[in-house]
Amino acid sequence: MARNADVVIVGGGVIGLSAAWEAAERGFSACVVDPEPGHGASWVAAGMLAPVTEAGFGEESLTRLSLEASRRWPAFAERVAVAGGEDPGFQACGTVMVAADASDRAAIDHLLGYQQHLGLEATRLSASECRDLVPGLSPGLRGGALMPGDHQVDNRRLVTALLAACAAGGVRLVAQRAGAVSLHGGAVSGVVLADGSTLCAPVVLVAAGAETGRLGGLPDGVLPPVRPVKGHVVRLQGPTGAPLLDRTLRGLVHGRPCYLVPRRDGGLVVGATSEERGFDRTVQAGAVHTLLDDARTLLPGVDELELVECIAGLRPGSPDNRPWVGPASVPGLVIATGHYRNGILLAPLTAEAVAIYLTSGSVPAPLDAFPPGRALEAGDALSTARRPAEVSG
Ligand code: GLY
Repeated sequence: MARNADVVIVGGGVIGLSAAWEAAERGFSACVVDPEPGHGASWVAAGMLAPVTEAGFGEESLTRLSLEASRRWPAFAERVAVAGGEDPGFQACGTVMVAADASDRAAIDHLLGYQQHLGLEATRLSASECRDLVPGLSPGLRGGALMPGDHQVDNRRLVTALLAACAAGGVRLVAQRAGAVSLHGGAVSGVVLADGSTLCAPVVLVAAGAETGRLGGLPDGVLPPVRPVKGHVVRLQGPTGAPLLDRTLRGLVHGRPCYLVPRRDGGLVVGATSEERGFDRTVQAGAVHTLLDDARTLLPGVDELELVECIAGLRPGSPDNRPWVGPASVPGLVIATGHYRNGILLAPLTAEAVAIYLTSGSVPAPLDAFPPGRALEAGDALSTARRPAEVSG
């Protein structure tokens, strides 16, 4: 059968789009299949690039991967901007974490001790030091910490920029749902689309996030066990030129994590819940109420902002919170999914690893330690529901 592309990518989120673009940059013809490219978890996300504030107890290998990914971001953002002519909105802004009460302070100190033990850049702050860095903070807060290397990118501008870079690089977009991977002689031969047509390719990259398990056509157990983890996000808007924040603010509010990520245009993204509710994307009043209440507990000026959007998305969770990247047991099948809370942060590194794999047949370090089909590491096998980093925000 005639080949439609060298590689078909199932899933047009930041992982799939970045991988398609990097593959095209290396001379592969790439085709992305997604009914609404960039409008899944990538659209709902806040865009934090936070290897330190997301570091969880027992997740050292993920933290090392995240740090490596974070170092790639400035150059990646620049390359995407040049390739497609759209600025993805990367900001080296740093992050302040604050505690609402004494018990939140103790939890932050506990996490800080662990982060410092790993040699991560994180400094304890008194309440007045927090207010010096974030003047709009509520007066009653109990201090916190500075993570100067935890930055952000505007996730929606990033989607636009990646789509432009893909278009400039000749990546084909097919706005359909992928129904199944097709096989011939036990190897991948392409993807069957929702309308029944087939795209023929010797390689299929599955970058379908939380939807990964819905892809048909493969023997049981070939696709990794991704599960959806719901997150509510609220988007607020203030006047351009007078932002409430000039860096990311994360907080613990009576045990609940909350983050406020400021955009250059006066926007503020407030997130996020973490809920095990299957594929439910309903926006619930209680979740929105709690997010807003916690945000205004940290930063009272939030009350004056316009409420522009409430949305919920599905993170692609894995049993050990780590992604799967690399070839699967079926020849021609490549996996890049399960990035959970760090999809945007890990996109450049994942895309580069996929492109190198397509070229050389090997996944480079450090992602070679995250293969599909791996056994869980004892230290990384904490259940997501008890994940300590979420206690710390
Ligand atoms: N990366 C933040 C979140 O998943 O909520």
